[in-house]
Amino acid sequence: MKYLVTGAAGFIGMNVCKRLLEAGHNVVGLDNLNTYYMPELKQHRLGQLLPYANFRFVKIDLADRDGMAQLFAKEQFQRVIHLAAQAGVRYSLEAPFDYVDSNLVGMMTILEGCRQNKVEHLVYASSSSVYGMNAKIPFSESDTVDYPVSLYAATKKANELMAHSYSHLYNIPTTGLRFFTVYGPGGRPDMAPWLFTEAILNDKPIKVFNHGKMMRDFTYIDDIVEGVLRIQNVLPQAQQSQGTTAPYAIYNIGNNQPIQLSEFIEAIETACGKTAEKIYMDMQPGDVPKTYADTAQLENAVGYKPATTIQEGMLKFVEWYKDFQKEL
Ligand SMILES: NC(=O)c1ccc[n+]([C@@H]2O[C@H](COP(=O)([O-])OP(=O)(O)OC[C@H]3O[C@@H](n4cnc5c(N)ncnc54)[C@H](O)[C@@H]3O)[C@@H](O)[C@H]2O)c1
Repeated sequence: MKYLVTGAAGFIGMNVCKRLLEAGHNVVGLDNLNTYYMPELKQHRLGQLLPYANFRFVKIDLADRDGMAQLFAKEQFQRVIHLAAQAGVRYSLEAPFDYVDSNLVGMMTILEGCRQNKVEHLVYASSSSVYGMNAKIPFSESDTVDYPVSLYAATKKANELMAHSYSHLYNIPTTGLRFFTVYGPGGRPDMAPWLFTEAILNDKPIKVFNHGKMMRDFTYIDDIVEGVLRIQNVLPQAQQSQGTTAPYAIYNIGNNQPIQLSEFIEAIETACGKTAEKIYMDMQPGDVPKTYADTAQLENAVGYKPATTIQEGMLKFVEWYKDFQKEL
């Protein structure tokens, strides 16, 4: 099978590419290698993909309309796994137009590519952030998600709406995956697992937002990749889909087991073998107090749900982090 995976130098994209390559598929990995975070990490990830003979890397910006159209026309992908995006809730307050270019225009070039070239299935990354301040737990795909509390979340919700219109108009099977805080080896430097590990190992204080009264459904990278690979084999069918007649589906992928920020910090302290100095802070704008995935729909569709504990996952992350620091 021939795949386009966008965000191939990114955290989730690289891991998805690797699994597809190991299974013998042909993969074109796309990324613009932007400098939102350390370029060395993106190169390090790409370095794990380039040795595969069935992998090709294309450096292009999603917002390059002509370049994207040419790529789709030339390559004739069977499936597309769209993971490139301007990620991060907090940065969307600083650089809003980066989110418009990568997440809105970028989604449009992907949808048009799928439409013009009859792609069999488009799987794309949405986010748990679409749930905003949702009070009902666990968060279910059928909950109303009309009130985003960050521009990042608004672009992810917009992606779902855009996908639905293309599924409806052009009968393109699309599946959106609402990822819940993904972490693990090779993870992102702008996220808490990295920031806390870095601070604790260097005897620096950590900022504990909302005075530690936050809950997150942390999901280990291998569990996310397993979910993505299983779901891309399940083509949503018109008539059977969730509340629409279009071949369109949305799934949560989360651990279904939210943990307190304090338990998360303890897991990092144990993995690092050190105790953190904590500075308690107020809630940050755009952040949400709790995320908690209802994974029943995912289980029904693919017979699988993430299960790695934060203790196991953080041990693996900290081990990887120490090795990576030696490489820099
Ligand atoms: N990591 C998480 O916890 C999490 C949670 C919810 C949703 N998501 C979503 O999952 C997807 C993957 O996230 P990630 O953690 O791997 O992020 P990441 O930042 O590590 O990867 C995204 C990649 O996309 C590339 N990219 C960004 N804009 C681009 C553009 N305009 N053109 C081409 N390439 C571009 C970046 O260079 C990067 O390598 C994203 O869509 C993100 O919004 C991630």
